[in-house]
Amino acid sequence: MAFSSPTLNVMVAAARKAGRPLIRDFNELENLQISMKGPADFVTSADKRTEKILIDELSKARPGYAFLGEEGGAVTGADATHRFIIDPIDGTTNFMHGIPHFAISIGLEREGKLVAGLVFNPVTDDLFTAEKGHGAYLNNKRLRVAARKDLASSVIATGLPFLGKEGHARAASEMAEVMNVTAGIRRFGSASLDLAYVAAGRFDGFWERSLQAWDIAAGIVLVREAGGMVTDLNGGADMLRGGTVLAGNENLHPQMLKLLKGVKS
Ligand code: IPD
Ligand code: CA
Ligand code: CA
Repeated sequence: MAFSSPTLNVMVAAARKAGRPLIRDFNELENLQISMKGPADFVTSADKRTEKILIDELSKARPGYAFLGEEGGAVTGADATHRFIIDPIDGTTNFMHGIPHFAISIGLEREGKLVAGLVFNPVTDDLFTAEKGHGAYLNNKRLRVAARKDLASSVIATGLPFLGKEGHARAASEMAEVMNVTAGIRRFGSASLDLAYVAAGRFDGFWERSLQAWDIAAGIVLVREAGGMVTDLNGGADMLRGGTVLAGNENLHPQMLKLLKGVKS
């Protein structure tokens, strides 16, 4: 059985409650209200409603905790030690296109350190959870990162900038290097699930630039608790503020870091 503290139980209950109407929306996409944050950057009525349900449920059970949510931004609380970091739908573009690969992502910080993470795909019912010191789980199954040692047999995931975002040329150069030396690259469109898949040993590694804290907070805990390494793309620990991430097992992570550092930007 998965270890689950009372606070993780609260996170799971909130995600399951918010996930139910999300499945209904996913099955009736033609009724979805969509607006744009920027070029090719969409927000749907479902993103906003999901974040509201999550914040309502979490703050009922844990009053005073602070929030950082993609749609609502930062909300301070009376409890200065705890903060939930929420992406209500990570993979909105997939969601809008009827691709069942998106997730609710909730990370929890205590005194500025990530201590718990949940990534939940309501369509597939994949619930990834982890708590610091207690391991990572998919539903009730304990997770462990893949054991591969060489890039040549590894499948590596990434995320790519789209219309209106910077870094297209750099992403193309990085992909060129990685595709040269690996068994394949995947771009699935949800950074939180990319990290969860690294934790589950499905992907051997994952890297991306220009991310936000809510894309990766929960997934970082999952990878660490599954025995993997996560750093920013300089090899440091500034993922949440710096917005870059590299995850993999202890053999592949250093190889990927060296490779990506060598790419001319
Ligand atoms: C996006 C997804 C995508 C990543 C983007 C994110 P959103 O999140 O995680 O995989 O490549 O950088 O913005 O907008 O769907 O919450
Ligand atoms: Ca996101
Ligand atoms: Ca989102």
